[in-house]
Amino acid sequence: MADVMKSPCAKIAPSMLSSDFANLAAEAKRMLDCGADWLHMDIMDGHFVPNLTIGAPVIQSLRKHTDAYLDCHLMVTNPSDYVTSLAKAGASGFTFHIEVAGDGWKELLKDIKSAGMQAGVALRPATPIETVFPLLEGEEHVDMVLVMTVEPGFGGQKFMPEMMQKVNVLRKRFPWLNIEVDGGLGPSTIDEAAQAGANCIVAGSSIFGSQDPAGVISILRVKVEEAAKKGF
Ligand code: DX5
Ligand code: ZN
Repeated sequence: MADVMKSPCAKIAPSMLSSDFANLAAEAKRMLDCGADWLHMDIMDGHFVPNLTIGAPVIQSLRKHTDAYLDCHLMVTNPSDYVTSLAKAGASGFTFHIEVAGDGWKELLKDIKSAGMQAGVALRPATPIETVFPLLEGEEHVDMVLVMTVEPGFGGQKFMPEMMQKVNVLRKRFPWLNIEVDGGLGPSTIDEAAQAGANCIVAGSSIFGSQDPAGVISILRVKVEEAAKKGF
């Protein structure tokens, strides 16, 4: 029980969507050298969102260059089609969107876990937080909830502070949970996210657009750690 109450620790995850995809291995190494904990990989199918990015072949190529935790965010209409190939490719975490999982989430969750990956569930800004409660309350539950703080599809958008209400509700109800925020995070928005209870921070343009990415990563981490110390 004590373990259940323990606060989860800070995970800073640069979004590789903002990196130079033509130099992905070098960009990944640069981020890890700058202090990143995870690498956030945005997988988009051009259908769930109006953008098309990478899939299992790219994850497989990157895996040959790094042992890092590859935090895969699936912005796709049929997430179950990608479980086997991504696990084989070396994905570490598989986060699907609740809007497309429907009643099939239980089977999807089981498949992700039996393929050896951590499971996460993501919600678009318009999706109420209560929709993910069933995925957290059963015996077989997700390891992480990703609260989107922009409309999924593109980097460089404006942070939506009104999403912090969702983070707050989740943190109060599930103190042990990894809560990830994604979209518009950086030094100017981290306070709100950390104080609401987010511990996994995805940041694309604020890290890759900075002259001092290590400095940005460090600010994000310190803010989460300070908030966690206060009990969020
Ligand atoms: C957007 C992606 C994000 C994106 C974040 O759909 O899920 O991971 O890269 O980029 P920034 O931090 O620039 O908002
Ligand atoms: Zn993402």
